[in-house]
Amino acid sequence: MIHDSQSSKEILRSLSYDRVAIVTDKHVESLVWPQMDELHPFSKIVIDPGESSKSQATVSFILDQMHQAGLSRKSLLVGLGGGVVTDLAGYCASIYMRGIDVMHIPTTLLAMVDAAIGGKTGINTHWGKNMVGTFHTPVAILYFPDVLQHLPKRHHKAGFVEAWKTTIMCKPNVWKEMEYPLTRKQITDVAETKLTLVETDITEKGKRAWLNFGHSFGHAFEHLYHLEYGLLHGEAIAWGMLTEMYFIDENTHYRSFWTNWVKANIPPLPYKPEHCNQVIELMRSDKKNSADGQYFALPFPSGSKIVAVDEGQQREALRWLETIIYH
Ligand SMILES: NC(=O)c1ccc[n+]([C@@H]2O[C@H](COP(=O)([O-])OP(=O)(O)OC[C@H]3O[C@@H](n4cnc5c(N)ncnc54)[C@H](O)[C@@H]3O)[C@@H](O)[C@H]2O)c1
Repeated sequence: MIHDSQSSKEILRSLSYDRVAIVTDKHVESLVWPQMDELHPFSKIVIDPGESSKSQATVSFILDQMHQAGLSRKSLLVGLGGGVVTDLAGYCASIYMRGIDVMHIPTTLLAMVDAAIGGKTGINTHWGKNMVGTFHTPVAILYFPDVLQHLPKRHHKAGFVEAWKTTIMCKPNVWKEMEYPLTRKQITDVAETKLTLVETDITEKGKRAWLNFGHSFGHAFEHLYHLEYGLLHGEAIAWGMLTEMYFIDENTHYRSFWTNWVKANIPPLPYKPEHCNQVIELMRSDKKNSADGQYFALPFPSGSKIVAVDEGQQREALRWLETIIYH
C-alpha cells in the first residue's frame, strides 16, 4: 500500500474513478503542486495551512467543494499535504455520501512516517485535539520523497519525533540507528513498521495503542501552546514523550538520549507550574481514557506496555518535567 515515486506516478495515470479531487493547503499548492503534473487534470480544493484548519468550518468548505466538483460515490478524494490535510481529506472522504475512497500523498516527514498511514482521521474541537473523527483507511499512500526538499528544518525535526516514537515502541533494537536527519530508506522503513502494526489492529483495540506513546501529555501541550506559542504537533509530542518517560521505573539509556535531543532540537515548552491543573484537566477528557482509568503506552526496556497511571503520578511527572525545563 506504500508506493515509491515511480509506481505512484503509474497509479495516478491509471486511476479508474469517475472523478478525482485533490485537497491541499496553500503552502503545498505553491511549493509542491507545480511539480505534480499527474495531478493537474483533477479538481483542486485548497485550504489554509496549519492546525487551525482542522475545524468543522474547513470540513464544510471541503464538502461543498467536493459537491461542486461533481464527486459521486464512485469518486476519489486525494489528500496532498501534511497531517492536517491527510486528517481532513480522510475525514471528508469518510462522511461524503456515507464514504468514498481516499488516497494520500504525504508531503511532510510527519505525514510520511505517521499521519497518512492507518486511516485515523479527525478534526479538533474546543474541548480537545482530534475529538471528532473516523477510521477510514486510504486505498493507497503515494510517496514522492523529493518534496521534502521544500520542508523547513523545524518540520523535519517534528517528523523525526514520530519516527523515533514508532521505532522505540515497535523496533527498540534499532533505536540507536535512528539519527536525525533520517535517510529515505529509514523513512520508508518506519512507514512500513507503522503500516504492519495498524493492519492487524485498525480500530486500536490492541497494539496500535503503542503508537500513542507521548500523546496524552503531548495533546494537552499542543492544545494549550499551539495557538499562542506556535508549538507544532511533533514538538508537543516530543515533550509529551519525555514527560511520560517519567513513568518508566527501569533504567533506560534512551531517556537521557531523548532528554538531550529534545532540549537541543525542539523549542522550549512554555509550561509553568500554574498550568498543571489545565494539563491534568485536558488529559482527563482524553479519548484514550476508559471508565476504569487513564492508560499510557510506554517503551519499557523489557518491552512496550500499556499501564495505568493515576493523577498523582501525572502531577509528579509534571514536577519532574519542570526540573528538566528549568535546569
Ligand atoms: N491520523 C494520524 O494517524 C495522525 C498521526 C500523527 C499526526 N497526525 C496529525 O497530523 C498533524 C500534523 O501534521 P504535520 O506536521 O504534517 O503538519 P501540517 O500538515 O500542518 O504541515 C506542516 C506545515 O508544512 C507545510 N508543508 C507541507 N508539505 C510541505 C513541503 N513539502 N514543503 C514545504 N512545506 C510543506 C504545510 O503547509 C504546513 O504549513 C496534526 O494535526 C496531527 O494531529 C495525525
